[in-house]
Amino acid sequence: MNSKQTYQWTEMTMGTCYYPEHWDKSLWEDDLRRMKEAGISIIRIAEFAWNKFEPEEGIFTFEFFDEFLELCLKKEMKVIFGTPTATPPAWLTEKYPEVLNGRQDGVLYRHGGRRHYNYNSPKYQELTKRIVTKIAEHYGQHPAIVGWQIDNELNCETCEFYSEADSAAFRVFLLKKYSTLEKLNQAWGTVFWNQTYTDWEQIYVPRTTLSQGINPHLHLDYIRFISDSTIRFCEMQAEILRKYRKPGDFITTNGKFWNVDNHKMEKECLDVYTYDSYPSFAFGLDRDPKNSVDLNDRRWSMHLNEVRSICSHFGIMEQQSGANGWTTRMEGPAPRPGQLTLWAMQSVAHGADFISFFRWRTCTMGTEIYWHGILDYDNRDNRKLAEVKDFYSKLKTLDPVCGADYVSSFALIKDYDNSWDTEVDVWHERIASYSEDEIFAASQLSHTPYDVVYLQEDSELLDLAKYKVIFYPHPVILDEGRTELLKSYVEQGGTLVIGCRTGYKDMNGRCVMMPQPGLLQQISGSDVRDFTFTSPAEEPTFAMWNGEKLETPLFNDILKAVDGAQILATYANSYYAGEAALIEKRTGKGRVLHLGSTFSRENVTQILEYTGVLLPFAGMIDAPESVEVILRQKGNRRFLFVLNFQPMEVRIELRKEMKLLYDGKTVSGTQILPAYGTAVYEFE
Ligand code: GLA
Repeated sequence: MNSKQTYQWTEMTMGTCYYPEHWDKSLWEDDLRRMKEAGISIIRIAEFAWNKFEPEEGIFTFEFFDEFLELCLKKEMKVIFGTPTATPPAWLTEKYPEVLNGRQDGVLYRHGGRRHYNYNSPKYQELTKRIVTKIAEHYGQHPAIVGWQIDNELNCETCEFYSEADSAAFRVFLLKKYSTLEKLNQAWGTVFWNQTYTDWEQIYVPRTTLSQGINPHLHLDYIRFISDSTIRFCEMQAEILRKYRKPGDFITTNGKFWNVDNHKMEKECLDVYTYDSYPSFAFGLDRDPKNSVDLNDRRWSMHLNEVRSICSHFGIMEQQSGANGWTTRMEGPAPRPGQLTLWAMQSVAHGADFISFFRWRTCTMGTEIYWHGILDYDNRDNRKLAEVKDFYSKLKTLDPVCGADYVSSFALIKDYDNSWDTEVDVWHERIASYSEDEIFAASQLSHTPYDVVYLQEDSELLDLAKYKVIFYPHPVILDEGRTELLKSYVEQGGTLVIGCRTGYKDMNGRCVMMPQPGLLQQISGSDVRDFTFTSPAEEPTFAMWNGEKLETPLFNDILKAVDGAQILATYANSYYAGEAALIEKRTGKGRVLHLGSTFSRENVTQILEYTGVLLPFAGMIDAPESVEVILRQKGNRRFLFVLNFQPMEVRIELRKEMKLLYDGKTVSGTQILPAYGTAVYEFE
């Protein structure tokens, strides 16, 4: 089961991030008034304010936020309260340097930045428990509060931990997993380069080694350990908050970052997941020459697909409102008129029912003076505030969309073992990231949306069976459980598409001594007899499929058909010309397609067409590549989002009568969307 959400917004809601501690108190009332006028009904506060609650060790003060929350109550502003553990006070790290995280070479990250603590320090855990308990005891029943945010962006800034406390906790994690050193040595293949451990104390989190020689199997377990540590830290706080909060108040954290199983974290600790969306990280970068239209900021749709798999009706805790930038890194363009709305609608289209803009006003001090908010330093009304107001008026017409499901044509299957193996193994990374980017591009350009489904311990056939077609591009690591699930999916009628390099590793990341695609050979009808990266010195390889060219980029498995499988395409060049490149095997009511290469936008489009899922909106709309088209559905109410990511107007054709929700007018036929314009239509 992918998502286990227990909180859902019941109407479209808009918020912002506010830092009362950054401003003179004389501004508070006016700020809240102007926010309300703009349609902002929720603010997130306090996530970096530990000193305001505990200025000295063990001395707790609440006057500052008491006063602010009183004002919120008076102004009818609702509040998401953050726990302040992302920025420990100076007194804390000075007195207890063991709480600090450090670089791999042992240099500690000192006070002054953020997220410089480690999850496994017993002292940090103790002090975290204490501050979170004090805050939750004091504010848990406060009527202005509607939700809680744990920490801030767990695993942002860094997702690697190298403190002594981490090595100690890593040993405990490994002891639980392997119980004996013999089993650990076996799993990690430590006989290679004489790495054998004879005492648990000899094991550390990865340290600086010569020849970049971190044992990859240790490394994979290390990432699993980081994920586990992150979730335990989050859970520790969630348990405290659950005890003191009012019924109905939600617990969340804002993601999504690396080296953490976000699905597990959401299931075990949170009521709802929130995401921080900053498409302008990519807007303004050079266009990838492969792309016929600019997909830079549209790439955030790829992230939003992932977020939806964690939690189908999520919130955006930080939605971009101004230009990105720090004094120390990044110089980004300001969102163009219309782009603030476009990017926020991108989030809504993908499943967000709560949009909170970062931040109310740009900070006038510190590293983030260029991470612009809605208002600028001068505090005057500006075009961004006007656009937020306009966005709100549009958002409220979308109340019927709240809780509606995103409708997809196929699923991209992933799992954390393989994702993390790509961090350990450059061969794996190269093919996996290439295929994922290209599947995304094919989906965007052809308006064929997809969901992401992570295979997890509790995954069921139902999670897969709702998709006619699933792509599991390069499941390098396979185990029996996942193989059985995929087999059942195929037997009941599904189409499973796999690519090169499938099934050559076990769960430890060790290579299996069996023919590829390993365990999946039971249903793939394919046998990999030879394989190679394609050579940049030769012409790109390709195959022929029913007289049409089929791209086979980057890596080629040279296939043989076995068990009565059918060859659909054969390589047309290189030393394996004439050998099989695409094989189809039917099992039960379904089938497996094994493509012996990575996925390109062209070959994905061909496969989507062959499997009958391409262009699902053809009867509703004709839209150019430059717009994204998304459907959300609730019961029999259907809502079509059209998002123009280009700096010029575009023409679309509505093939049915539809109601434009923004103004309630019924329209059909040719419509013009302005530069960066959006539209949401309801139709039968
Ligand atoms: C993140 C953080 C915010 C802020 C912004 C801008 O998303 O959660 O606190 O730092 O980035 O840098």
